[in-house]
Amino acid sequence: MYRVAVVTASDKGARGERIDQSAGVIKDMLAGINFDVVAYKIIPDDLDTISQTLIDLADHGVVELVLTTGGTGFSPRDNTPEATLAVVERTVPGIPEAMRLESLKKTSRAMLSRAVAGIRHKTLIINMPGSPKAVRECLEVIMPVLPHALEILTGRGGECGNI
Ligand code: MTE
Repeated sequence: MYRVAVVTASDKGARGERIDQSAGVIKDMLAGINFDVVAYKIIPDDLDTISQTLIDLADHGVVELVLTTGGTGFSPRDNTPEATLAVVERTVPGIPEAMRLESLKKTSRAMLSRAVAGIRHKTLIINMPGSPKAVRECLEVIMPVLPHALEILTGRGGECGNI
């Protein structure tokens, strides 16, 4: 069982002007691999607010995984990748690469996602796009490797087997 935080970056969501459906998609899908969403935050798209939220979650041993949703595109308020890069110690380029690679088979707009992933202490932080459809499509791609990723990151697992 791993603990997960979902961070939704959305000015409208934080003001209560938009219902956040993506967090529910994440929660439901992760339940299928026995990952438990123990924290949920909906915050404005401010770069500093996003960074501080990620720091708080990663530095207090609250969760092993943070999934952000929203704010990875081109609008002036899409700050999530920059906020994430500001706080991670090691980047994990393969995860967003895989999400874009597979997503491009569904929509050419996948190339517009600037999502990044990285590690801060023993917490893996991954940016997901904002729409429930995009979240579902991206999570399907990375879900099979998440247990192994966290096993290694947290030291709970041993070797990488020859699979
Ligand atoms: N990825 C998948 N799998 N499916 C999608 O529909 N939408 C794209 C892209 N990634 C999409 C996707 C679009 S339209 C945009 S603008 C970017 O994600 C950024 O989304 P965001 O601004 O909601 O983070």
